[in-house]
Amino acid sequence: MTIDYREKIWCEKNKIHLDFNYVMQEFIGPEQGLFEEDFKSLDTKINHAIEQIKNKHAEKKLEWMNLPYNQESVVEEILNHAEYVQKNFESVVIFGIGGSALGPIALQQAINHPLYNELSKEKRKYPKFYVADNIDPERLVYLLDVVDIEKTLFIIISKSGSTSETMSQFMIIKNLLDEKNKELAKKNIVCITDETKGNLIKIAKREGYKTFYVPNGVGGRFSELCPVGLLPAVICGIDIKKLLAGAEFMDKNFSDEPKNNIATKFALINYLAMQKKQKNICVMMPYADSLKYIADWFAQIWSESLGKAVDNDGNLINIGQTPVKSLGVTDQHSQVQLYNEGPFDKIIVFLEVEKYRKNIFVPKTFEDIDGISFLGGISHEDLIHAELKATEFALAKSKHMNMKIILPEINEFVIGELFFALELATALMGEFLNINAFDQPGVEEGKNATYAIFNKPGYENKKHELENMLVKRQDYFV
Ligand code: PA5
Repeated sequence: MTIDYREKIWCEKNKIHLDFNYVMQEFIGPEQGLFEEDFKSLDTKINHAIEQIKNKHAEKKLEWMNLPYNQESVVEEILNHAEYVQKNFESVVIFGIGGSALGPIALQQAINHPLYNELSKEKRKYPKFYVADNIDPERLVYLLDVVDIEKTLFIIISKSGSTSETMSQFMIIKNLLDEKNKELAKKNIVCITDETKGNLIKIAKREGYKTFYVPNGVGGRFSELCPVGLLPAVICGIDIKKLLAGAEFMDKNFSDEPKNNIATKFALINYLAMQKKQKNICVMMPYADSLKYIADWFAQIWSESLGKAVDNDGNLINIGQTPVKSLGVTDQHSQVQLYNEGPFDKIIVFLEVEKYRKNIFVPKTFEDIDGISFLGGISHEDLIHAELKATEFALAKSKHMNMKIILPEINEFVIGELFFALELATALMGEFLNINAFDQPGVEEGKNATYAIFNKPGYENKKHELENMLVKRQDYFV
């Protein structure tokens, strides 16, 4: 039976929610908690932020917001190509970093088997999946120990087509493929990049590589719902139409109720938490291994978009909320001590899964032993739910602000909603803070300094600046 992912009842059943009881003063006291008046006092600001998002969207400045709607032909092309890849390759390796890697990793981990690569070929059905984002020199060498490059598709993802990490990996692999057979690179390399700008598109055209595009106006960390995320996902059997339907549903929620949806509330609460209660840290703590890398993805979008030196009027503000990744229940046995008893400088955001895809029951093995007999007969789903509830309770009791995003289950639709909600929340938070959430001068600075170190033409002044700054003192060295 095919499900209509736009059908009302199905959408409502899969809708994600935000429970923000424990950020409110009724539960965590007036000193740490928010008042309803705090929300009301920002009414003008909220209206302005929503209007700005709508205007910028209409002016084609937020093209990532169109991704749930305008990719029909791209999706068909991706589906066709994926079928070819599934038939002809054993493995897929992504070369990309930051926004060109974190989304694909998060989606793969969320949807597919946690030990996907270790499954037998029959069970896995689709090619093995690897992402080589870092250029730790050991990493690529070890990866080449386990993949047969002749049977591997290399997906080179770089919006700018110039990022040193990705381009260097691409150059290494191109050379290795050429050494095997001059025709191989054309078959085993796919590029995802800007349609007109950058070196990668130039090379792809010259060499005749299959290419998909990062649409205009879609920045790295907002690119998960374009070919950057879609192509690798489909190759590994993930339903991208369902993913995009979830994003579309979230966008509609935002349009229908711009003030009363999860994205706006999430941004607003974090804004109030920062500005009124000095919560400059936002901990994301999923209670599911499969969502661990969603917290990683969130850490990037929240920090790279919202950590800024100057506001839109040119004032130096050095603002930003530091995202921290945590995992429930694992970190109940480490970080939660700090969250419970440490400084009141953070808001904890739990990700709860109502219904897990698998469950396991604890047998009544030691009924005669008081301390553990209560575990007999319960399931791990019962236990993880209870532990989340217990952690929420303990944090609220110690007056530490926390809230919870509730996912009815984990599927592509729900993850599409979550991605889109957090993207929207980031854009809204940028408006609340009056900053540009879509640039990254702090990241560019490091990229440019790397070019200067390697004498890339055009970076002579940067090299001069770097050399003068890097004269270190010996007496600060032990
Ligand atoms: O979000 C961003 O803009 C960055 O994290 C980029 O994705 C990252 O720097 C990689 O850039 P590119 O895709 O141009 O290689």
